Amino acid sequence: MQIGLIGAGNIARALARGWAEPVLCTDSGSGRARKLADEVGGEAVGSNEELAERADLVVLCHKPSQLRVVAEEIGGRAKAVASVLGATPVGALQMAYDSTPVFRLLPNTAVEVRRGVICYTPGREVRPQLERDVIGLFERVGAVVTVEERQLDAAAAVMSVGPAYQALLAEAQVDAAVRHGVPAPLASRLVVETMAGTAQLLEARDYDTLAVRREVTSPGGSTARGLSALERGGVRAVFHDAIDAVVVGARR
Ligand SMILES: NC(=O)c1ccc[n+]([C@@H]2O[C@H](COP(=O)([O-])OP(=O)(O)OC[C@H]3O[C@@H](n4cnc5c(N)ncnc54)[C@H](OP(=O)(O)O)[C@@H]3O)[C@@H](O)[C@H]2O)c1
Repeated sequence: MQIGLIGAGNIARALARGWAEPVLCTDSGSGRARKLADEVGGEAVGSNEELAERADLVVLCHKPSQLRVVAEEIGGRAKAVASVLGATPVGALQMAYDSTPVFRLLPNTAVEVRRGVICYTPGREVRPQLERDVIGLFERVGAVVTVEERQLDAAAAVMSVGPAYQALLAEAQVDAAVRHGVPAPLASRLVVETMAGTAQLLEARDYDTLAVRREVTSPGGSTARGLSALERGGVRAVFHDAIDAVVVGARR
């Protein structure tokens, strides 16, 4: 399947690196499409129209505000369209693309290392084989999870924003370890490897966070003291506030 990316910014680059196959791509004049094609293979093409004619699947990676402009250029030419645009409901995509099959997917940047999470919101009836092909393509770069559109803002507040939360959590722990004399590169490695291992352990325990926490928390022990300090510091409340801020902002 020849992939065509409209936009060559952060998410286009993450997807292209994850797919690791030649892509067609465009930008709005920055030259980022050429850079991306040089890196992953494929071609920066001269126009969105040409890209739509040559691609089997057009992946919309521009900004949501460009929806109408781009749809006017490629509607009727594109064989199928997958959108990764934030804040752009399936209804808006269907209206912009009329009779072209459209798919709404929301990935996070971990698709670059093929450990992404991709929320898939089914739209109108499309050929089942085409839907399988599109989902299969995204499954190559992460876990595709079906999410109803009404849940998507809250889902995005954890999975799309999530890499930034995890990075901040890691940074705070590294800083604390450095304060206690662990060199920063060593502290970073210890923290990040611990995060990766914990993620795998959680998967093995059916995502049961309490079970994993109990396994490392002996009564009256050091983990219990550390967790208690986190609770006193309001770690849960802060996450509620952070996620509320994202959800409320998305609904404005
Ligand atoms: N970043 C994420 O983690 C993430 C995750 C999920 C979804 N998304 C969604 O993905 C979309 C892009 O986000 P981003 O972070 O990748 O933004 P970005 O880095 O600003 O990239 C946007 C790209 O779109 C190009 N573009 C704009 N108008 C265009 C047009 N008319 N024709 C062709 N290309 C055009 C820009 O061209 P220039 O290079 O010339 O400026 C740029 O390459 C947004 O809708 C966002 O909601 C992002």
